[in-house]
Amino acid sequence: MGILPKANDACWCGSGKKFKRCHKGAVAPIKQGSISPTRTIPDTIPKPPWADGGSVEPWDEPRVKSPDIIERMRRTGREAADTLAYLGTLCQPGVTTEEIDAACHEMAIEKQSYPSPLGYPGGPNPFPKSLCTSINEVICHGIPDDRPLVDGDIINLDVTLFKDGVHGDTNATFFVGEVDEISRRLVAVTRECLERGIEAAQPGAPLNEVGRAIQLHAEEQGFGVVRAFIGHGIGEQFHTDIQVCHYYNPDIQDIIEPGMTFTIEPMITVGSWRHRMWRDDWTAVTSDGSRTAQFEHTLVINDDGPEIMTTPSDTSNHPYWALAPSNAQ
Ligand code: CO
Ligand code: CO
Repeated sequence: MGILPKANDACWCGSGKKFKRCHKGAVAPIKQGSISPTRTIPDTIPKPPWADGGSVEPWDEPRVKSPDIIERMRRTGREAADTLAYLGTLCQPGVTTEEIDAACHEMAIEKQSYPSPLGYPGGPNPFPKSLCTSINEVICHGIPDDRPLVDGDIINLDVTLFKDGVHGDTNATFFVGEVDEISRRLVAVTRECLERGIEAAQPGAPLNEVGRAIQLHAEEQGFGVVRAFIGHGIGEQFHTDIQVCHYYNPDIQDIIEPGMTFTIEPMITVGSWRHRMWRDDWTAVTSDGSRTAQFEHTLVINDDGPEIMTTPSDTSNHPYWALAPSNAQ
């Protein structure tokens, strides 16, 4: 369902070659496969309001969190990160996103937590799965289905868990088998953009400095920044009123304060940063069918700077961490 350039247009990768002589046919555009029935969560696990057909009623949650909430967010954040780190190892040719989602669902239950995307309201129907899986030109909110991963794909897994009354939200883009040069560069730069954004999230700084730092780096490298989807405040609610743009937005007037918790989650594109939606009204794809990548952390701002709350327990020898720019190849 991706819209691709015409055969004689210049390829989106910037090679200067015609599309038909370059990336056309390298990997077919993503199409929605069939989606298996929605899984259930045992009643013993505390659920957010939207579980089992409920709705989201935003309430006025304090932007600066109590030490107790921050401590709970560290624990939930680490569990989300451990889940993401494991799921990343499943991103191999032939594995379906349905299988990765099932593993996410089971791991959430084992950890006595609720996978926050499950049943989240939006689109014509609530989100039907426990994980977002976004492949190649899919920007975000892809729904797991029966499509087997193909050698050369890049796939973003976005994990959010709800436990002890708070959410932890983190995502990463993984390589499936052998990935082409432009995709490797895209993923490395996207990872760097997250790091630049985190560095800019200092107490006392304008919140719009985060987007400025990300946009500067992405555009210097010849890539685009998605505008339509942004980072968000997080805590007892999945999404609070803090808005974290990944481009410079002078309309954002907030000053970053110690105790604030929010995500930074840049979506970076090889070609157009514009998006369009599939008919499911969840899946967002780039308007030109070019590839896109994303990384996300949940942060708390301390007096001395930002702290990442979604670092896995074990960061050694893992594809998620091997994607750090110094190791990208
Ligand atoms: Co997320
Ligand atoms: Co998020």
